Amino acid sequence: MTLQPLRDTGWPPKGDVTARRLAVIGDLEASSLPAGAELNPPALLVALDELRMYKDDYERHCLFVANQRALRGHDAARDAFAVGASELDIQLAYLAATRQRESQVPYQNIIGIDHHAGTLHYQHYDVEAPGTPKSLLVDAGHSHAGYAADITRTWASVHADPLFERLIQGVADYQQRLISRLAPGLDFVELHREMHRHLAELLVETRLISISAEAAVESGLTRAFCPHGLGHSLGIQVHDVGGRQRDGQGTPLPPPTEDPALRLTRTLDVGMVVTIEPGLYVIPMLLEPFRQGAQREAVDWAAVDRLQDHGGIRIEDNVIVTADGHDNLTQGGPIAED
Ligand code: GLY
Ligand code: MN
Ligand code: MN
Repeated sequence: MTLQPLRDTGWPPKGDVTARRLAVIGDLEASSLPAGAELNPPALLVALDELRMYKDDYERHCLFVANQRALRGHDAARDAFAVGASELDIQLAYLAATRQRESQVPYQNIIGIDHHAGTLHYQHYDVEAPGTPKSLLVDAGHSHAGYAADITRTWASVHADPLFERLIQGVADYQQRLISRLAPGLDFVELHREMHRHLAELLVETRLISISAEAAVESGLTRAFCPHGLGHSLGIQVHDVGGRQRDGQGTPLPPPTEDPALRLTRTLDVGMVVTIEPGLYVIPMLLEPFRQGAQREAVDWAAVDRLQDHGGIRIEDNVIVTADGHDNLTQGGPIAED
């Protein structure tokens, strides 16, 4: 598969022979600039962000290597959890397996056992493990030559409610179905909406809700179970730049009102690397209005309460869009690691 050559970013403006060719980017005083330099010209910033949306073969290779190394850490985390490790010990097992120190990870690893898995950016590491842990969510990456992996896995222990295990499988299944749709021309906002339809169907199938899937999406109930976006652009930054600007123009492409957390609102194109990270959480603060409101009969609250100390589920892969569809960098790809 050959990636498209880097596209014209629009900088410097065509035909404008008087355009300044020296620019300085940074948080600087204008008085400290060299003569003739422009400080943070907006058109240049937009063009650079645009360039970073598209990864060439070298960048794709770096992201692939980062993914392969992070996966070793996820295996080690799973194994440590299986023998009763605490959150801190799982973190240490992850760092050891990925051969990185804490200051090198691209973002602070999220390692949540039981109800901690329901805190989206949980940032503590309990030193003691619970006696009968039920679940583990690990959102952790690796950085290779500055390029980040951003991978999440969720596991159930032998103490987990069977419904929780079924929900993990359900989310994993529709995560793969969503990935199978990735191709040039796909509207990411539409794919995010598709995630909510899959989530609603899973809630119906598992009898967690007794209204139709359409009504669950329409009423906002699925957004209470998954308040974050389907994914984002990935590169040098974990939440990479350019995800909310119109191709080539830099005009803002804001998320829909009902999905303010969605970080990628563009139409996919060859060379974009995105995360696909559907979730399903029991977050009491978000579900409470539904428990008190018009949907109170629509939810099996006893089952929700049983799931609460399992926290939540997120499954996240990193995928590059190619001319003929996509390659999942997390599940293995056609290029060698080294
Ligand atoms: N690890 C941050 C995220 O998944 O967006
Ligand atoms: Mn992510
Ligand atoms: Mn993540």
